[in-house]
Amino acid sequence: MFDFQLYTPTHVVFGRNAEARVGELVKAQDAKKVLIHYGSGSVVRSGLLDRVRDALYVAGIAYTELGGVVPNPRLSLVYKGIELAKAEGVDFILAVGGGSVIDSAKAIAFGLAEEGDVWDLYEHTRSAKACLPIGVVLTLAATGSEMSMGSVITKEEGWEKRAYDDDLCRPRFAIMNPELTMTLPAYQTACGCVDIMMHTMERYFTSGGNMEITDSIAEALLRTVIKSAKVLVEKPMDYDARAEIMWAGSLAHNGLTGCGNNGGDFSSHMLEHEMGGLYDVAHGAGLAAIWGSWARYVYKDCLHRFRRFAVNVMGVAANGTDEQIALQGIEATEAFFRSIHMPTSFAELGIQPTEAEMQDMAKKCSAAAGGCQGSAKVLYEADMLAIYQMAAAL
Ligand code: NZQ
Ligand code: ZN
Repeated sequence: MFDFQLYTPTHVVFGRNAEARVGELVKAQDAKKVLIHYGSGSVVRSGLLDRVRDALYVAGIAYTELGGVVPNPRLSLVYKGIELAKAEGVDFILAVGGGSVIDSAKAIAFGLAEEGDVWDLYEHTRSAKACLPIGVVLTLAATGSEMSMGSVITKEEGWEKRAYDDDLCRPRFAIMNPELTMTLPAYQTACGCVDIMMHTMERYFTSGGNMEITDSIAEALLRTVIKSAKVLVEKPMDYDARAEIMWAGSLAHNGLTGCGNNGGDFSSHMLEHEMGGLYDVAHGAGLAAIWGSWARYVYKDCLHRFRRFAVNVMGVAANGTDEQIALQGIEATEAFFRSIHMPTSFAELGIQPTEAEMQDMAKKCSAAAGGCQGSAKVLYEADMLAIYQMAAAL
């Protein structure tokens, strides 16, 4: 068991009609001028943006707006947001949307708080010393960005998708009404479920010490997401299933499921970020497409964890060798992904990288990781390439 810190400063307001409290929550932050940041139109179509505007107006809070965030959010819009917010004297950013909108808001907030190019943070050539406060009205349960220390931005030049982690950008509040996720296409709902599972599994498949309470929380979270995801395939308007998934998304990535382990193994995410940068695939679908290949490549180095996962999460019978049980757990996970219409190979994801492109992704992935990455198994550039090749060969 490892020592740990858990820092979760986000005020969560969860439940039906929770967004009605946005004016009051922004006011409590002493904000004078808010930048409402949103995506490519879903919050306009659902009427949520109007409700947020009204709530700010009633609370007497001035605001300006910037929409247009796309999945795999772009650096160019972050720069635009920084310029706009400077010109308008913005002192608080309100993200209304999914992970991409929240991450773009975080990047703008970093860029406003300090001089210098905000991309430096994502290249890890410096650390932030300050960040403007952020609030969130969440519309997609997936990334956990509403409580997390992370943000992921894509630079169009070279299509580099990079993450920056810093406690400074953890949102001040997160408004979570599960009903707001009911307008999601089934594909995005399923992508979100995979992402939530992956944030939990990447903290679970680690070598070294672990903590029983953390393992048990992680296993319960994973079983709940699997059960609720299956419900939503049949009944997308099921409030309770939406709520279970929404709360699981926050708990999966706010640090709770990593307490007592050695920091996690985020290889699947790092491998996916290169795919998202190059092919602009949905994050959760990219994770589902690469995970099985990663798991088969590493499981022998982390056999006891894969065996435990197979039995406690996927319900595999504890008969046979540890290796057989572990492999059945991987197969059951892939079968679950397919059951919610998620891909388990590059072909199913709809991408066909050439050998040269896979070499390029592996090179960039290892460079972004500082040479190597992983805890279940430490991966170098050659290992990353081998995993991409496995996913391409399926
Ligand atoms: O742009 P709009 O029109 O809002 O449409 C979005 C977008 O097309 C749509 N959508 C969102 N809420 C909706 C809705 N459509 C209908 N009804 C609603 N209620 O869904 C599409 C995807 O949205 P996006 O925000 O891109 O999805 P997600 O929340 O999965 O975010 C993915 C991004 O977050 C990063 C990913 O890499 C990716 O760039 N991540 C951020 C993390 C973090 N900050 O901690 C951790 C994650 O591991 C992840 O890497
Ligand atoms: Zn993720």
